[in-house]
Amino acid sequence: MNTAPVDPWLTVLVVGAGGREHSLARAIAADPAVSRVHVAPGNPGTSTLATNHAVDPLDPDAVAALASEIGANLVVIGPEAPLVAGVADAVRAAGIACFGPSAAAAQLEGSKAFAKQVMADAGVPTAASLVCHNDVELAAALDRFGAPYVVKHDGLAAGKGVLVTSDRAAALEHGRGADQVVVEEYLDGPEASLFVITDGSHALPLQPAQDFKRVGDDDQGPNTGGMGAYSPLPWLAPGAVDQVMAEVVHPTLARMAELGSPFSGLLYVGLAMTSRGVRVVEFNARFGDPETEVVLPLLRTPLAQVLYAAATGSLDSVGELEFDDRAAVCVVLASRGYPGAPQKGCRIVLPPDAEDAFVIQAGTSLDAAGQLVASGGRVLVVVATGADIAAARRNAYAHVTQIDFVDGFYRSDIAAKAV
Ligand code: AMP
Ligand code: GLY
Repeated sequence: MNTAPVDPWLTVLVVGAGGREHSLARAIAADPAVSRVHVAPGNPGTSTLATNHAVDPLDPDAVAALASEIGANLVVIGPEAPLVAGVADAVRAAGIACFGPSAAAAQLEGSKAFAKQVMADAGVPTAASLVCHNDVELAAALDRFGAPYVVKHDGLAAGKGVLVTSDRAAALEHGRGADQVVVEEYLDGPEASLFVITDGSHALPLQPAQDFKRVGDDDQGPNTGGMGAYSPLPWLAPGAVDQVMAEVVHPTLARMAELGSPFSGLLYVGLAMTSRGVRVVEFNARFGDPETEVVLPLLRTPLAQVLYAAATGSLDSVGELEFDDRAAVCVVLASRGYPGAPQKGCRIVLPPDAEDAFVIQAGTSLDAAGQLVASGGRVLVVVATGADIAAARRNAYAHVTQIDFVDGFYRSDIAAKAV
């Protein structure tokens, strides 16, 4: 890719309002080809580097109209719900390049049963599974695979639709009454998240990351959207990314094309490195949150130009993505009560950015007095870099202690085992 100075020519609209969108807007704004960044609807964090627009991210026509009005030549869709709602289709129909899959292709995330079928057809290694439509089938599936039980709701559930438990009654209860649940074989081994940028045929992997799903230290408590992350993964076998590209990504893209729903955008491959080899835990149709927070600060290749190439079917013109030879760690500050009912309205005072640490805003808003307050479950993400994971971790936790957020809590063991 040509990284020589260019006249800024790209106007980018980022859709969404969380930590991932703040991270994306930050990386996109740093691309020398970008003249303006807009976000719909964005949050107080994105307003520091882009123009926010109070437009419903789930309304395909409203997003397409906004993109036309502001003269966007690239729309980047952050979360899964707008993708499943067909926002990318509406933007493309308006003649504007869009980074994000069609509603049909986003079913790789929108339906666990669909994703399992695609993996089976494409010969992609994943947990053995059964799709159940009633409580009798559910009970039989639990007994077939045995404990620990893995029960997944079929549709979008913001990271909370999956229960992994050794308690058979709890597993039955989790799936009871659902139209469609997937019961799976339990996968042992550490997890890794691999982001792949694709135009439907060409594909470029980003640097793998690991996130921490459980709410409490030592992986205790319920699953969340993710409480922290780090990158790179020093324990990952050399060649693992190439193997996943060959055994998972390319066969999946080929199958999606065959089905008439080519997948173009970000394919998030959730992996378990099991004792029996690499297995796909899940696909997502968008950047992961909070993994994005650690992967993008290490990316050297200007992001917006790569996303534009993917959105316009010319990813083959882009070489391998380049990363800094450093490490990044992020720690999520969630609001008391998360992942159940989080406290809202707590005032927050942020420190200035440090040399190696900064704050990404996820669930924040401004109150009537213009003061920053918590308005979601995962509220802030402290991101730090360092020469290695130990240094990045120290920088992250040092910055966390500078934040004034009384209702906030965080895990104290993010990336601890990796050090
Ligand atoms: P998913 O939404 O499918 O990614 O599941 C959320 C989390 O549940 C994953 O990141 C894993 O930590 C856990 N999980 C999902 N499927 C399995 C499985 N088959 N075996 C063990 N853990 C799983
Ligand atoms: N961090 C997990 C996800 O984005 O789904």
